[in-house]
Amino acid sequence: MNSTSQIDSSTVFVVSGGARGITAQCAIRLAREYRCRWILLGRSPLVEPEPDWAEGYAQEADLKKQIMRSLAVQGEKPTPLAVQKLYKKISASREIRQTLQALEEAGSQAEYLNADITDIKTLQPQLVAASERLGPVKGIIHGAGNLADKLIEKKTPEDFETVYAAKVTGLENLLTCIPPKQLDYLVLFSSVAGFYGNAGQTDYAIANEILNKSAHLIKQQYPDCHVVSINWGPWDSGMVTPELKKIFAQRQIEVIPIEVGAQLLIEELQERHRDAVQVVMESPLMPFTQRKIGELVGQPA
Ligand SMILES: NC(=O)c1ccc[n+]([C@@H]2O[C@H](COP(=O)([O-])OP(=O)(O)OC[C@H]3O[C@@H](n4cnc5c(N)ncnc54)[C@H](OP(=O)(O)O)[C@@H]3O)[C@@H](O)[C@H]2O)c1
Repeated sequence: MNSTSQIDSSTVFVVSGGARGITAQCAIRLAREYRCRWILLGRSPLVEPEPDWAEGYAQEADLKKQIMRSLAVQGEKPTPLAVQKLYKKISASREIRQTLQALEEAGSQAEYLNADITDIKTLQPQLVAASERLGPVKGIIHGAGNLADKLIEKKTPEDFETVYAAKVTGLENLLTCIPPKQLDYLVLFSSVAGFYGNAGQTDYAIANEILNKSAHLIKQQYPDCHVVSINWGPWDSGMVTPELKKIFAQRQIEVIPIEVGAQLLIEELQERHRDAVQVVMESPLMPFTQRKIGELVGQPA
């Protein structure tokens, strides 16, 4: 056990969005440090076993060719939409499997629950059963999130719902299933888009800012819980696509390298940060920076 944190190998974390993207990378880093236990949540199914025709095809173009062949064999039309849907399903499943394997290799026990956190009726029984297997949940990392970036006049109610519900309804549901009084840790993955605002991200900004305010409220009610809402700047991973990365580069915004972001989370969970309920973690080039990547990598910020 690390002396500056309460986390050890018996600590069970529930992690929404924890099988994919940056949240998965953070879970893997924490597992290497503490070998804690994991209940990961996501909507994508774990496809097991993978169809024979997909096995060994790692590159996107090759896998898509195989998908087209398989659809044709089944007498289905290999439309771009059908191919993309199946491609996303198989690649999501591969990412989930890789995360589970990395957690296991780090010495952690981990389970993946195929659950939409906005649907409490299916979430609750699955969480109860997993907690009976792994132990009482002591920490939540709420990393689930979606984007539907476009200007406000172009947004549909469905866009708003997808973005808002994963963050806000998702948090409400998690805290209904796992009462905050049993938690030692509550970590919310928020964004600088909530802190500063951002064009095309009104829904995302609202949802993230609600996470920030929720963190303050929960900390007031449960002062013994280590609550933190992390307002991440863009990472070099997850929802930051190569196209988005180009835009950040044009705006001279540095992305957070995966290993630096994951280490920042480890730092944030140390006892000395117990009372920092909202933190901003982003590029040193942005204004009003409170914590700077440069500090961690030892460069002048
Ligand atoms: N990447 C960044 O640069 C960045 C910056 C600031 C903040 N953040 C925040 O960090 C978190 C993770 O971001 P990311 O970049 O890793 O995104 P990502 O790659 O798109 O991953 C999002 C994760 O959320 C899950 N998810 C979405 N809706 C869900 C739902 N209703 N129920 C259960 N799981 C759900 C997804 O799994 P399924 O699709 O399988 O459900 C996926 O695992 C997000 O909350 C994001 O807002 C990220």
